Amino acid sequence: MPALAELYQEVIVCQRCDLAKQRTRAVPGEGREDAEIMFIGEGPGWHEDQQGRPFVGPAGQFLNELLASVGLKREEVYITNVVKCRPPGNRDPLPSEIQSCREYLERQTRIIRPRVIVTLGRYSMALFFPGKSISKIHGTAQKGDGVTYFAMYHPAAALHQQSLRQAIQQDMLKLPPLLAETKRSAAPEQPEQQPRQLTMFEI
Ligand code: URA
Repeated sequence: MPALAELYQEVIVCQRCDLAKQRTRAVPGEGREDAEIMFIGEGPGWHEDQQGRPFVGPAGQFLNELLASVGLKREEVYITNVVKCRPPGNRDPLPSEIQSCREYLERQTRIIRPRVIVTLGRYSMALFFPGKSISKIHGTAQKGDGVTYFAMYHPAAALHQQSLRQAIQQDMLKLPPLLAETKRSAAPEQPEQQPRQLTMFEI
């Protein structure tokens, strides 16, 4: 069985933390196994819990619009969350729940090996930009262990706040050039052309 499918099988029956008790369905993630860009949100909301798919409610609608604004389709990227089961009442995930779920996220990143990981919101950001504040670092990238991390506001937060909405829209526009840059820097260096010595006969 492909590694991602195997991981999904584990997640949908996972009992590692108490979120399992109240979920309708676990939400492992979805998208291409060879996606170049991986988006990581916080945790499933009501719609996601019902459908077992990430970002399918209003925040997901907005994420789809953001993707379309840079010519990307959902099917081309990979989308998941820090915790795979809905925290009751959409409360924030607890540190222990994030910890229990972390191994799934690590396996997902190892399988997919994205060029760029986009963190959506504070909880996802905290995993890769520890100690940083989202209001300061949104729209900025950081390179590490073969991946470029890019921090964005959470689409749900940006849905109802005009200033955040503009910020997330602008930040999204930085994604294609950032991806292109990761490809350029990964390309093998072309040997520099030595200036050719003129021979006596050409002078
Ligand atoms: N918010 C999230 O963080 N993830 C989802 O999947 C949906 C809403």
